[in-house]
Amino acid sequence: MTTRSPSFSTRAIHHGYNPMDNEGALTPPLHLTSTFAFESAEAGGEMFAGERPGHVYSRISNPTLDLLEKRIAVLEGAEAGLALSSGMGAIAATLWTLLAPGDEVIVDKTLYGCTFAFMRHGLAKFGITITHVDMTEPQNLAAAISEKTRVVYFETPANPNMRLVDIAAVSEIAHAGGATVVVDNTYATPYLTRPIELGADIVVHSATKYLGGHGDVVAGLLVGRAEQVSQIRLYGMKDMTGAVMAPFNAMLILRGLKTLALRMERHCANAQEVAAMLEGAAGVTKVQYPGLRSFAQHELAARQMPGFGAMIAFELDGGIEAGRRLMNRLAMIGRAVSLGDAESLIQHPASMTHSTYTAEERAEHGISDGLIRLSVGLEDVADIIDDLAQALEGDPVRAAA
Ligand SMILES: Cc1ncc(COP(=O)(O)O)c(C=O)c1O
Repeated sequence: MTTRSPSFSTRAIHHGYNPMDNEGALTPPLHLTSTFAFESAEAGGEMFAGERPGHVYSRISNPTLDLLEKRIAVLEGAEAGLALSSGMGAIAATLWTLLAPGDEVIVDKTLYGCTFAFMRHGLAKFGITITHVDMTEPQNLAAAISEKTRVVYFETPANPNMRLVDIAAVSEIAHAGGATVVVDNTYATPYLTRPIELGADIVVHSATKYLGGHGDVVAGLLVGRAEQVSQIRLYGMKDMTGAVMAPFNAMLILRGLKTLALRMERHCANAQEVAAMLEGAAGVTKVQYPGLRSFAQHELAARQMPGFGAMIAFELDGGIEAGRRLMNRLAMIGRAVSLGDAESLIQHPASMTHSTYTAEERAEHGISDGLIRLSVGLEDVADIIDDLAQALEGDPVRAAA
């Protein structure tokens, strides 16, 4: 009899579910119900008062979501989880819960475009100060933090330029200043990084990406301490945003999680080869991938991530025009936003995912106009490389040179 606790991939498949509790059904039932009947009027009143456990209404909780919430919590090493309608729903519900007028959020320089817009154009309208600090150097946070700072927020790796943040170092500084640390772990997934174990308080996800993994659902998840997650459930989600996940979508994410470990292994292996190919290709001027020795934060990546993920940012000689030509010449890799799908996807942040920044803001926040973002998929890596190579070789500028 072993006392070892189950490993990541085993938990991703089994945690929190016993078929014998559901007539032997191997796959957890899908609870498509908006509301739940009370045994008696008194029982309903007690549930509303929080004196009796049970489900009341699916904007608050639902058994299918409950299983997903338990599963993501155990995979992230957190006490509790919460399922929301989208990654933006998870981010908005978290920040609406934690912040009040007069508070400050310190955020890293680079954020996903809609998170940036939510902070700068959303929260700022309600008397919350947004301060950007370059957190690749943790001491910058120590210099900026004040008693007004309620939340420290960052992505690692950051969308789209792949900057990394040292989670342990930044969390220590944030906690010394009394702030809550919120990390967007969408790019790394808990398979590659578990921010809670490194000191963060809350982790948010666009589950639309690797956690779902099949490009068929928009969804969000978050994890943290049970008390904080309960506050976000009852305030940020139930009342402020109403951004609850649909049970059907929870079922799709539960299915995606079963293969997360396998998919991430293949994603990482493919991306390492694609990044090396791009780095050696004529006409490619810069490749940002944490697994490359040339990556400025490679040492931090090796310490913080057991694998380097599958997102690559790169630039071409000839800037955005060359980037557009490359994108239009691709035969298999899809021109699309989103990421983490089985299909390789390519997009241009300045005109697409990060067009919520002005040109000046992009320059200030390290998102160059020529940057191309590639999400390396699960196809045979030789086919991904062939597609990129033919698109690069077919460039008339390079062909004429
Ligand atoms: C890093 C990151 N965070 C959050 C989001 C928002 O997630 P969603 O599209 O599920 O609302 C995205 C979407 O692209 C993202 O890339």
